Amino acid sequence: MRPRFGATLFWAVLLTLALLPFSLSGCAPRENPPEEEPAEDAVLLGFSQLGWESAWRIGNSLDIQAAAERAGVQLMFDNAQQKQENQIKAIRSFIAYQVDVIAFAPIVEQGWDTVLQEAKDAGIPVLLTDRLIVTEDPSLYVGYVGADFLAEGRRAGEFLVEKADREGLTDLKIVELSGTPSSSPMQQRGEAFRECIAGDPRFEIVETMSGDFLRSKGKECMQEMLERHERIDVLFSHNDAMTLGAIEAIEEAGLRPGEDVIIITVDGEQAAIDFLQEGKINCVVECTPMLGDIIMDLAKKLAAGEEIPRVTNPEERAFTEFDEDLMDIPPRGY
Ligand code: AHR
Repeated sequence: MRPRFGATLFWAVLLTLALLPFSLSGCAPRENPPEEEPAEDAVLLGFSQLGWESAWRIGNSLDIQAAAERAGVQLMFDNAQQKQENQIKAIRSFIAYQVDVIAFAPIVEQGWDTVLQEAKDAGIPVLLTDRLIVTEDPSLYVGYVGADFLAEGRRAGEFLVEKADREGLTDLKIVELSGTPSSSPMQQRGEAFRECIAGDPRFEIVETMSGDFLRSKGKECMQEMLERHERIDVLFSHNDAMTLGAIEAIEEAGLRPGEDVIIITVDGEQAAIDFLQEGKINCVVECTPMLGDIIMDLAKKLAAGEEIPRVTNPEERAFTEFDEDLMDIPPRGY
């Protein structure tokens, strides 16, 4: 029998300290309890979030917490603040606590085998969310729910090819702002984008820099690249946070984002959609953070011993300057 009450209190205190900006569901202390607290026999889900580097990530965390509450799932939510070792510690705590299911968003692809073997030995199913891992033992996790990053990179590349075709553009110098090194979105978005433009003499990637999915680093990297290159025609940025920083750098350099520099970004947070509608961004490839309901559904199935699909990709699209309904995009919610 797991020590529910004492540990719940422990997690509530820990989470309150670690996640002040978030309003937590499940374990957070409240003055006014929600109408429906999870039942004593509710599914207990340990979730390790990788950090809070972007609006996407905050939207993802809030969505997971709200979905847990809706689904009556008891959620132990830990934020690893961008450190793999913190995620490993959190997973070990979930194992010690004998949660029903563990879910986590792995910050990088490598280095999970030992802790996941521990979860497997303890008989706790592990669900990957948002990002993938690289392992020689695929039985270490039961499934993945999150974006198809290759499809995202492809949509970005296809937009650029379409733009060049429509406008007869040639000799395009591209810079790439890539995400956290060794993370699956960084690897796969970059790879698929490259495949789309490979062998086409109209396109040349002149530099790739990692902005770590952070707005501040996106700005710094763009400033450096603008200084280094006489001409930059295209920015392909792996997320909106870096793009928003890069746009500041582009404007400070006296250039017009969306006109002097074609801007292609990934995510679809409200600020990026606003810039797309204003003409400062040319293409926003959607990556939805709204994974909470799917995660809760899968967690309940796993706790009941049911099989789940190996991969669950949410439906996603690209929003571009060529869309006829550009001004009708519904509010994004993050
Ligand atoms: O893993 C998803 C990526 O991580 C999102 O594109 C980015 O904004 C986040 O930081």
